[in-house]
Amino acid sequence: MAEYSGWIIRNGHITANKFTELFDMLQNAARKSGLEVKLVKHHELVPVIENGSPVLKGKYSNEKPDFILFWDKDVRLARHLENMGFRLYNSAQAIENCDDKSLTHQVLSKYGISMPKTITSPLLFPNCDLTDFTFYQYVEEELGYPFVMKEVYGSFGMQVYLVRNHSEFMEKVNQLKHKPHVYQEFIQSSSGKDIRLHVVGDEVVATMMRKSESDFRANVTNGGKMYQYTPTEEQAALAVKSAKLLGADFAGVDLLFGENDEPIICEVNSNAHMKNILSCTGIDVSEFIMDYIYKDLEAKR
Ligand SMILES: Nc1ncnc2c1ncn2[C@@H]1O[C@H](COP(=O)(O)OP(=O)(O)OP(=O)(O)O)[C@@H](O)[C@H]1O
Ligand SMILES: [Mg+2]
Repeated sequence: MAEYSGWIIRNGHITANKFTELFDMLQNAARKSGLEVKLVKHHELVPVIENGSPVLKGKYSNEKPDFILFWDKDVRLARHLENMGFRLYNSAQAIENCDDKSLTHQVLSKYGISMPKTITSPLLFPNCDLTDFTFYQYVEEELGYPFVMKEVYGSFGMQVYLVRNHSEFMEKVNQLKHKPHVYQEFIQSSSGKDIRLHVVGDEVVATMMRKSESDFRANVTNGGKMYQYTPTEEQAALAVKSAKLLGADFAGVDLLFGENDEPIICEVNSNAHMKNILSCTGIDVSEFIMDYIYKDLEAKR
């Protein structure tokens, strides 16, 4: 019998196949590492604050897992579980820091990490409209065209846009004005090209380069192709340092290439997919994650 039993929490409302594969990978890896795991849907857990204290109701209310692999972005549920004393991989704070791209840059900006010049959009309440456009003149002056606009919550490159001129800018502002987003310097030298480094603990365990011939976004979902890649020491160090500063036990870090190939942080994913990196490199990152959890539990015993 396994010494430790844990939960893998997933978002129960996502049914896409690529997620099913991911959870199969994680469950197999757990077994190999000697961990017993149960797949738990987030909505099967009912986080109740009762008599001033956090408790769990619902199907699993009587269970006490030794660890929780939190593979969802429901940071409120994550924090509730932490308040109950559970150890989460990744922590609620790490997931929040990574999931909100604006927050990612803000946290890293305290440590002089190399990243594109980034401007956070001003809050516009849902029942209000824009009354003044001066802010946008500053954005144009700071960044020049073209620049990048990104919704702070986004995946697969789907909420990342290249803005080429004033009319495109105003059109996008109109579409995104009620959603938090950032305006960002376009790293031309990295157009259609980035590297994804999977960090687990203090180590980069797998890396690939992604290149697209047809789009400035290198994401595989946008037609980017994957290539095996060995990171330089500088790239690996930047990826590990950034993941750590964000509080992540493990992360998928995207780096861009500066004009002299210097690494620049694009984003950090707390819940990075692992199927693409497996087919590109043959490396199963989930095995490193489960090993890391096992060793961490042993160290804290
Ligand atoms: N400032 C930038 N300059 C140049 N290219 C960029 C910039 N920001 C993003 N990109 C390109 O767009 C892609 C998508 O951006 P980003 O990784 O921030 O978004 P995402 O949708 O969260 O991606 P993922 O699915 O990897 O989480 C990047 O992989 C990169 O190729
Ligand atoms: Mg990305």
